[in-house]
Amino acid sequence: MGSPRFLVTLPIPEKGMAALRAAGTVHVPADPLTPAQLRAACRSRDYDVVVAQLGDRFDAALLAEATLVGISNYAVGFDNVDVDAATAHRIVVGNTPGVLTDATADVAMLLILATARRAVEGDRLTRSGQWVGWRPELLLGHDVSGATLGLAGFGRIARATAARAVAFGMDVVFCSHPPAGRPLSDDDVAALPFPARQVSWAELVDTSDFLSLHVPLADGTHHLVDAAVLNAMKSTAILVNTARGSVVDEDALVAALRDGTLAGAGLDVYEHEPRLAPGLADLTNVVLLPHLGSATVRVRDRMAELCAANAIAMGSGQLPPHCVNPQAWQ
Ligand code: GLV
Ligand code: GLV
Repeated sequence: MGSPRFLVTLPIPEKGMAALRAAGTVHVPADPLTPAQLRAACRSRDYDVVVAQLGDRFDAALLAEATLVGISNYAVGFDNVDVDAATAHRIVVGNTPGVLTDATADVAMLLILATARRAVEGDRLTRSGQWVGWRPELLLGHDVSGATLGLAGFGRIARATAARAVAFGMDVVFCSHPPAGRPLSDDDVAALPFPARQVSWAELVDTSDFLSLHVPLADGTHHLVDAAVLNAMKSTAILVNTARGSVVDEDALVAALRDGTLAGAGLDVYEHEPRLAPGLADLTNVVLLPHLGSATVRVRDRMAELCAANAIAMGSGQLPPHCVNPQAWQ
């Protein structure tokens, strides 16, 4: 194998670019590729590895024609890749787990606090010139301490969110792998470094004051939070999503927020980024971030290093350090 040829669909931080250039040849398109251009590039035989972004979709049709050895996703999530199809065509897929756990948990906590304490409404009022000064009942929010935080999913980011929430005096309940649930053993729950109670998905939905989503997007979690779930939640509850937009039926969420079925929402992710469901941006009881979960300088540098290390390993015929489908490698 000659030196690997990398297609980098959007430039990643320089640490990663430098590592890729040192290991092989790097092509960065002048403009972001359209889906058709990406598909053409993947079957062109010009590239061994694509360094990809969440917005790049690798579906079964693209993968069937692709002449790649690997896709190195600049993200921990990989729902933009049809992994079964990639495996069938022996294309290895890499991701960047671990390094963004704390940063993403920080954003979950930020959204919990910002929605509960109406931080964005307050910011708008302060800037507007309409603020008349301290008032006994100005912009009253809700206490976070004493409130119940329900975690849907219980992976690294959920656990890091739990540790933060406990420090803020919240009671933590969780359901691993909703909706079916894949319970942790009593010993595993007892060994957690923070107090948390394991409940069913139904109980989580019924009892949470804040329901925070930490599941990957997959067939079983698409629209996990639909109109029925939103109806079952407390009308005073707040939904927080730092996972994937399509875990929530965003149109149903807008309806629920509008008619008072649900008190508020803090969102970092959307079903059709960067588009928002009609009406979402008009609501005052939402805090909307533009997918910033991992957006710190240090985390993005570390993601770039991991993503480059994955790409370089793939391009040299080695199993990448973080591979989501090792069965594809041989
Ligand atoms: C971001 O959403 C990621 O999956 O890294
Ligand atoms: C993602 O990295 C998770 O485990 O939550």
